Amino acid sequence: MTIDTTTDAGDMTGDKLELIHAVTADIGTIFTWDYERSRLPLMKLYEKAKTSQWNASTDLDWSTDVDPEKVADELGQGGTARFQALAEAEDSPVKHFGDKEWRQVGIELQNSLLSQFMHGEQGALLCTARIVETVPWIDAKYYAATQVVDEARHVEVFARYLDEKLGTQYGINENLKGILDDILSDPRWDIAYLGMQIMVEGLALAAFGLMQQITSEPLLKKLLRYVMSDEARHVAFGVLSLQEFYKELTDAEMRERQEFAFDVARRLQRRFAHAEMWSRMGVDPEAIYRTMDKVNPPAQQVFQQLLFSKIVPNCKKLGLLDAADGWLRQRFTEIGVIQFEDWTDTGEEYSTLDEVEKDRQASSA
Ligand SMILES: [Fe+2]
Ligand SMILES: [Fe+2]
Repeated sequence: MTIDTTTDAGDMTGDKLELIHAVTADIGTIFTWDYERSRLPLMKLYEKAKTSQWNASTDLDWSTDVDPEKVADELGQGGTARFQALAEAEDSPVKHFGDKEWRQVGIELQNSLLSQFMHGEQGALLCTARIVETVPWIDAKYYAATQVVDEARHVEVFARYLDEKLGTQYGINENLKGILDDILSDPRWDIAYLGMQIMVEGLALAAFGLMQQITSEPLLKKLLRYVMSDEARHVAFGVLSLQEFYKELTDAEMRERQEFAFDVARRLQRRFAHAEMWSRMGVDPEAIYRTMDKVNPPAQQVFQQLLFSKIVPNCKKLGLLDAADGWLRQRFTEIGVIQFEDWTDTGEEYSTLDEVEKDRQASSA
């Protein structure tokens, strides 16, 4: 159950109340008295996490001058193009847009993207704190504790970039908020992993990668490279943990996980329609959805597919594609993303994505 609370907020009043959102869940906090370290892949991952920590205050150059319009122009080549194609449709809600409006879309889009990254990072912080409590294995509790620190750092860097360099931010996207609420109100411990580590973080890893390749703004580029190094470990944490657990589930239990994963995937795609941005631009988001579904521009299709480049191979590794008569395989085939199934899964590739270590080796050499 989710509540926007007025009673649980202590002595908060007025404006401050709008700044909090409470989610309640009937979860069991698990102690384990078995301190034996037996899960080698998780032990290795934990060691890696300890040596690859970085400090957002000192490892990034916050004195960098950022020109929001230039950043927007670069991102616009990949981002705004998805929406510009909508103008060609009959009765399009953006038919009247000229250069000035599209330029503004570029700026708003970058702001909206980074704002949703920031909110998503807070979701990761809370979900991983939940996993520390609920996962029954000591090796996983150790690792999850390092991820909590990582996620705090990620919220910190996106919030600081938005505040100091872009000067404005968006509230959380309704689709993203719904996903985070669903994950956090579910009492099953593996659902926090599946929703956050596999789906939300898997998609974030792909999205950060796209943005990192496109932008030449040095602060944002380095920030994304470093956040991605951490995210690769987080997705690996999900794969390595659930792989073991999902082997024991029945087909019916796997089917529940498949349906949950697919529902999250669809809502994650919707979040990249940026409803909150269109509202700010004075355009009805529903009209954007309708036109998007009708036109389905090629740039949008490619973008939506690329977002699944990490999710699909990771779902395969967990046995989720083919369990329960291949239900999820069919769904991923229908939405045109099954071609990623044999791409490298993140359980294997995380160590090659450690940009923090690469920078350190380069500077000591
Ligand atoms: Fe993160
Ligand atoms: Fe993460």
